[in-house]
Amino acid sequence: MAISFANNIFTLQAKNSTYQMKISEHGHLLHLYYGSKIADKDVSYLIPRVIRSHESNPDEAGEDRVYSLCAYPQEFSSNDAGDYRIPSIELVNTDGSYSFVGKYKSHKIYSGKYSLSTLPTLYANEGEDVETLEIILEDAVTHVSVKLLYAVFAEKDIITRAAVLLNGSDGEIRLQRFMSASLDFMTSDFDMIEFFGHHYYERQTDRHPLTHGINEIGSFRGSSGHFHNPFAIICDKKTDEDIGNAYGFCLMYSGNFVFDAEMDGYSQTRVAMGIHPKQFEFHIAKGDCFEAPEVVMCHSAKGLSKLSHSFHDIFRENACKSRFVHSKRPVLINSWEPFRFTFDSEKLIKTAEISKKLGADMFVLDDGWFGERNDEKAGLGDWVANEEKLPGGIPALAERIHAMGMSFGLWFEPEMVNENSDLYRAHPDWCLRVPNRAPSRSRHQLCLDLSRPDVCDYLINAVNSVLEAGSVDYVKWDYNRYVCDVYSAYYPHDRQGEIYHRYMLGLYRILDGIIKTHPDILFEGCSGGGGRYDGAMLTYFPQIWCSDNTDAPSRLVIQYGTSFAYPICTMGAHVSACPNKKTKRNVPFKTRAVTAMHGTFGYELDPAKMTEKEMADCAEYTEFYRKHQELIFGGDYYRLSSPYDESIFTAWEFVSKDKTEALVCAVTQDISILDKNCYVHVRGLEPDALYKIEQTGQTLSGAALQNIGILLPHTQPQYTAFVFELKRLNT
Ligand code: DGJ
Repeated sequence: MAISFANNIFTLQAKNSTYQMKISEHGHLLHLYYGSKIADKDVSYLIPRVIRSHESNPDEAGEDRVYSLCAYPQEFSSNDAGDYRIPSIELVNTDGSYSFVGKYKSHKIYSGKYSLSTLPTLYANEGEDVETLEIILEDAVTHVSVKLLYAVFAEKDIITRAAVLLNGSDGEIRLQRFMSASLDFMTSDFDMIEFFGHHYYERQTDRHPLTHGINEIGSFRGSSGHFHNPFAIICDKKTDEDIGNAYGFCLMYSGNFVFDAEMDGYSQTRVAMGIHPKQFEFHIAKGDCFEAPEVVMCHSAKGLSKLSHSFHDIFRENACKSRFVHSKRPVLINSWEPFRFTFDSEKLIKTAEISKKLGADMFVLDDGWFGERNDEKAGLGDWVANEEKLPGGIPALAERIHAMGMSFGLWFEPEMVNENSDLYRAHPDWCLRVPNRAPSRSRHQLCLDLSRPDVCDYLINAVNSVLEAGSVDYVKWDYNRYVCDVYSAYYPHDRQGEIYHRYMLGLYRILDGIIKTHPDILFEGCSGGGGRYDGAMLTYFPQIWCSDNTDAPSRLVIQYGTSFAYPICTMGAHVSACPNKKTKRNVPFKTRAVTAMHGTFGYELDPAKMTEKEMADCAEYTEFYRKHQELIFGGDYYRLSSPYDESIFTAWEFVSKDKTEALVCAVTQDISILDKNCYVHVRGLEPDALYKIEQTGQTLSGAALQNIGILLPHTQPQYTAFVFELKRLNT
């Protein structure tokens, strides 16, 4: 049993980690421990029995001045009852008070994984050992209760949490903050690792010590966004890739989020994650519920690599049900970088023909195929092919591409509308817009109001009709602006605090209605590059376009940051032309190809403009990628060096789960110390086994490869790429 309950203690045991909670003598649920596996049945001795002067004591504690909600570690913190740290909940009760004090009422333990009815969650595979714990905490005065949900994926060392509010009070309440998970550590010697950035610069890695006060990241842009990713790590200061404690938290939600790590005056730490409370106010009628999204948590005592392996495994195997997750993905060529809005059928067909010779499997037509879409200013919302560019529409183009033996993909941005579109002219009230105010535009577009059921129905039908008529094998689902002017004409003025979240509920309904009804279409997520790269999106999209920045050295950094939580098989990565459109940098073809192999691999260039040599390279690397795709997608991934270190090279590695093969990749970066000896220290191999390196002909032990490393050739120009294929010898 992964979950047990005895003597008022809940213990959750995963393979290498333990999570423990206790119902206190007054019914509060205390968080005791999350960390390396321990067998102890009660570790509540870790709470010091000291009087914290000036802290308040609940009435039921009587004369006991030690018992304080602010000093004791809480599992779901109360509000307005003497715990001054970040609350798990804020609400307005029917009597106008803000109080909530949840006390243990009941619990249930069962085998299998809970799910939420309105939000995406991880699932358990058939036969997989997953257990669920549900604990109900109730406020004795209002009868508002909270169901805390826990699932233990024991083998994968993953624990998930979610929460459901049940309004058992005598009328409507207004929920203003509702965290999915909160947990308290008695200490605070931690670093926080977060992933920040902007368009073209996603998931940059920032590691810093926790400071007193609230260390916060989040988004209220209406999507998880480019600026902060809904994934963060708290770790010991000594933690590196191989050693030390690390805790990862990833929110399964694609909208506004917050992650707080609060270090209080006693130098204790509270971590909380959930929907961002800004402009959030949900009215919950008597008897109704509200679901908070799931948080996926992992503890690793063996550093950051182990933490990433656990997240990769769970997202690969328990997030998305698409059959494409476990199948080989097509090598695709995308029309955006070479052609933008300027193309016609003949140009596309010619491009597809050349790319077929280079080994591509699929041709993807990006933006510009519909309505009056000849630039960014018009057409969004009109999902009907522009017959001037594409005579016969999508079916005719798809047929010609299929006739070449290639598959065909198409771009959509369903959530948006240009004012210059038939859709907007017919339904100006279908977009988010504050009455009597001119809207803010971004990329000349407005956001459709996905909180409206009629808009959702329209979009499901509009996209499905194109897919059903046109033999489409792949869809790139884009989303190119942040939300503001958040007001829906569909809801009364006092319900506008619900719109951000209702938008997400609408989006998930649309994705269900389109993606789940087309199991044979591969869907790729995108948001101005990688602006909506999160766990919830991974339940729909087996792959997500990582960034519009296709410059290989920039990608090394973006893909490095992305790899802390998200599996390599989910990262859309393509080779583009040089000099790079954004950075103007020239990088050898091999380096661009090796960098794009850190993902789903494809091309964003005009093959008609390639040299003979580039075409030969293209065919060679496409083949090389195909040969290793299974290892890249299914193996354990190691960050061998950081692109942020003052190292001469950045290196990474894929090791098969059975450790019989590995692929080591490196790109030289800093060449200022030309004559320094450079060794790539390979990890994750069997120390005593012998491995043959295809490229050097050497046979070395796993131990030598780890401790000495692979010697890189001396004095290579900046941005030279190396690959080393390692095969274990049968001994
Ligand atoms: C943003 C995407 O990230 C690009 O790849 C491309 O699809 C454009 N949108 C098209 O407008």
